[in-house]
Amino acid sequence: MRLAVLKERAAAETRVAATPETVKRYAALGLAVAVEAEAGQQAGIPDAAFRDAGAEIAPDAASAVNGASVILAVRPPDVPLPRGALLIGTLGADAAAAAAYAAAGVDAVSMELLPRITRAQSMDVLSSQANLAGYRAVIEASTAFDRAFPMLMTAAGTIPAANVLVMGAGVAGLQAIATARRLGGRVSATDVRPAAKEEIKSLGAAFVGYEDEESRQAQTAGGYAKALSPEFYAKQAEVIAGAITKMDIVICTALVQGRKAPTLVTEAMVLSMKPGSVIVDIASDAGGNCALTKPGEVFTSPNGVKILGHRNWPGRIPGAASGLYAKNLLTFLTTFWDKDAAAPKLPAEDDIVRGVLLTRGGAVVHPNFAPATSPSSSNLAA
Ligand code: NAI
Repeated sequence: MRLAVLKERAAAETRVAATPETVKRYAALGLAVAVEAEAGQQAGIPDAAFRDAGAEIAPDAASAVNGASVILAVRPPDVPLPRGALLIGTLGADAAAAAAYAAAGVDAVSMELLPRITRAQSMDVLSSQANLAGYRAVIEASTAFDRAFPMLMTAAGTIPAANVLVMGAGVAGLQAIATARRLGGRVSATDVRPAAKEEIKSLGAAFVGYEDEESRQAQTAGGYAKALSPEFYAKQAEVIAGAITKMDIVICTALVQGRKAPTLVTEAMVLSMKPGSVIVDIASDAGGNCALTKPGEVFTSPNGVKILGHRNWPGRIPGAASGLYAKNLLTFLTTFWDKDAAAPKLPAEDDIVRGVLLTRGGAVVHPNFAPATSPSSSNLAA
């Protein structure tokens, strides 16, 4: 059975869906691995390293996928795939894309839809990538900042510690807090979920935020933040406006699943900050948490605040991000591997499979995208 690894073609996509280490593991399962030429180049993995791990280097995407039963990618591939192949990636699919996979006879697995349950943790691409994005955001903030993170007491005088505010304390935000603390920053953070407040404090950061009855119910059963009322956001904004004027660095990570990222840093807040301050908006792919973020760009506000709005933050640390992503995919495939048949086996009743499988055997099977048979059968709001 052939497994193909594609070179990514999306703009700014630097990651790759396999590493020499995972190629060896696939080969040990009995898979013949084909890696498209230069697939790992931007992640620092030369073709020779894949070849040494036992992969065949295919000159282009079409020859890589030719005869493949399993195809690994980061983003949706733009080459025709063989009918009956299993595609695994972060496909970001909508109903139209799911219908297209079904029509092409491709069984598509969209890893970002993985349920956030304990059993799935080691396959959780959102977590592995968000963790690195949070780290990278702070590192890039430190280089964009024209002063220092730690308090430095020198013979020539004392440099104060940087004040860092992290907005959103999920996976990325918690790593941003930890990284900023390691660099010596004075860190505070905000979130709306009650559990996040405790996590912020346990990492040694101060909690800044507004809480009321509504925010005490702000977490969905899946662990995500709910969208809250305009009244709540107004109260939250008042508290943030008071804190943000003292901040040197703001790291924005707040997301609400399935919606545009909430605007937490208004234009007026940016204008109240000191020149030379830095805002890093890793929510940029979802529209950004800062009103002045220009997705994909670095923008300096009229009062001299630098706003880093790059897209695809995990792609800015591609070696590590590919390593974890490739491991997540390996864990998924080995978890659902039928040793006797030497083939993947995705049981329809498994929670994880139900969460990620878009299509099977030419039909859309995912509850979010399956053609509704009645209004109540749609699970879009779940
Ligand atoms: P996310 O990327 O969807 O959102 C990031 C953070 O933004 C969240 O903490 C969210 O509460 C926060 N946020 C949303 N609106 C906000 C606002 N108005 N102001 C401030 N913050 C706001 O979340 P992520 O990082 O994917 O984590 C979601 C949950 O899943 C967390 O509870 C996390 O601990 C949990 N999780 C559980 C796993 C498991 O296997 N059990 C694995 C990974 C995450």
